[in-house]
Amino acid sequence: MAYTVGYFIGSLSQKSINRTLSKALIRLAPDSLAFEEIPIKDLPLYNHDLDADFPAEGRALKEAIERVDAVLFVTPEYNRDIPGSLKNAIDWASRPWGTNSFNRKPSAVIGASPGKIGTAVAQQNLRSILSFCNSPQMNAPEAYIQYVPGVFSDDGEVTDASTEEFLRHFMEEFGLFVERVLTVLPRER
Ligand code: FNR
Repeated sequence: MAYTVGYFIGSLSQKSINRTLSKALIRLAPDSLAFEEIPIKDLPLYNHDLDADFPAEGRALKEAIERVDAVLFVTPEYNRDIPGSLKNAIDWASRPWGTNSFNRKPSAVIGASPGKIGTAVAQQNLRSILSFCNSPQMNAPEAYIQYVPGVFSDDGEVTDASTEEFLRHFMEEFGLFVERVLTVLPRER
């Protein structure tokens, strides 16, 4: 069975190391997974006054999440949390009340940073948000990637064998996790 994964890049930067990491993850993923990016950069700031007349950007975001079987978050850490742009996207997708697009949607989180703890704090906070949004999360393996220049080429080739093997294993486990969740939980809300 093939599954479609919608992936979020937490960074808006053109030179994002997390965007490069996402390319590596897609290269190394099992054939059972297909990928489409869920863009977040054009979303306005969330405001619940707009719930009654939800803007087109918010509707497009929710439809994109609802179209895919699972979601993957590839995110930097900003000041020990996820970037505001990613939190903003999650807030949009979770509303209007009663239409949370992450409900029962399997997810995984991963991130890269030049720092030694490789986005660990941001990922813990993201896990808390996803729990509240009732998204079943892959618990293990965890993946805190300390970015070392040269470890990825611009198009996501991994130059270090142990990093490549680790990321391949992460994606294989994610494929198995998605299959297990979707076998047990119905896709409809
Ligand atoms: C950072 N950076 C950072 N790194 C980290 O490991 N923990 C942190 O809390 C922060 N905080 C932080 C705040 C802000 C506003 C910026 C701009 C940066 C450094 C960050 O990991 C680095 O810039 C990465 O390159 C960001 O990821 P992308 O955008 O390249 O994917």
